[in-house]
Amino acid sequence: MDVENNNNTIVPANKETQFAEKRKVICEENEDNQIKRLKNNDSPKQVVQRPPAQSPKKRLHNNHKPKQNKNETFMYGNYKQYYGKRILDKDFHDIRLDVFATQPQLFRDKQLLDIGCNSGHLSIQIVKQFEAKSLVGLDIDRSLTHDAQMAIVNIKRASNLSAVAAAGKFPYNVKFVHGNYVLEDDVLLEIERPQYDVILCLSVTKWIHLNFCDAGLKQAFRRMFLQLRPGGKLILEPQSFDTYKRRKKLTDKIRENYNSIQFKPEDFTAYLLGAEVGFASMELMGQPEHCNAGFKRPIQIFSKN
Ligand SMILES: C[S@@+](CC[C@H](N)C(=O)[O-])C[C@H]1O[C@@H](n2cnc3c(N)ncnc32)[C@H](O)[C@@H]1O
Repeated sequence: MDVENNNNTIVPANKETQFAEKRKVICEENEDNQIKRLKNNDSPKQVVQRPPAQSPKKRLHNNHKPKQNKNETFMYGNYKQYYGKRILDKDFHDIRLDVFATQPQLFRDKQLLDIGCNSGHLSIQIVKQFEAKSLVGLDIDRSLTHDAQMAIVNIKRASNLSAVAAAGKFPYNVKFVHGNYVLEDDVLLEIERPQYDVILCLSVTKWIHLNFCDAGLKQAFRRMFLQLRPGGKLILEPQSFDTYKRRKKLTDKIRENYNSIQFKPEDFTAYLLGAEVGFASMELMGQPEHCNAGFKRPIQIFSKN
């Protein structure tokens, strides 16, 4: 019978027998050595286990490298294979595109910001399919924005167009940048200016909420409003509160933040339409028919006058 070892990898039955025999030989060798030492009246020699030699540069780097546990790696919802999980379609088609296709004029010739763009798969599809004027994708995970930017570099290479010829056209109108959308201090909101026609915030509110609490998410909502031009739209796909619970154990800080949450997703619409933010109206754009209930999230459009 195959067995699972401590690393949760399956060890075939014949290998397990080999390993058991190897362990037996090692135990017997250790016993022999101990008997020899007793006979010789030797005290057990201290075996100093030296780590393999490392250059001073590497040692310095390792000493300063913050130790990350596995949970911290994905504490922002910064999953590497997000689209592999979310898109089950063989053509790699994100079904949220079908909801967006009900209002293509929202994107056509518009300047877009995609907050929490992950590896850029959906952002790139949106610009291509709906012929947006430009898109900036922002993500808190540098390696994801690097992957997204590399995807654009590869599309440029394959397109064979000179940068001058293609100026302002896809893929030259897309860029991905690394950064935290939540500002260090609310006072920085004072320098925000309208610069986008459409802001996408898809499946990101939970992660901003769990990491930066009610105050961080409210600030992000106010920032979105300030960055939109008059007539601009915020396209919001918030996660429901019951999905937060599963993630509260990711880190101690997240657990503490989760316990402090008072501003629930059902309060978001009133807040966005209220005096603190100021959107004029909200309409439900649609709800993708995903076979996984967790991904059937309503997509809302908030309009700025
Ligand atoms: C669950 S993924 C959603 C990806 C994409 N928006 C979509 O719906 O297909 C959440 C993304 O938001 C990013 N993110 C979380 N907090 C962020 C923040 N404060 N600023 C920028 N990006 C953030 C994560 O790194 C992750 O890539």
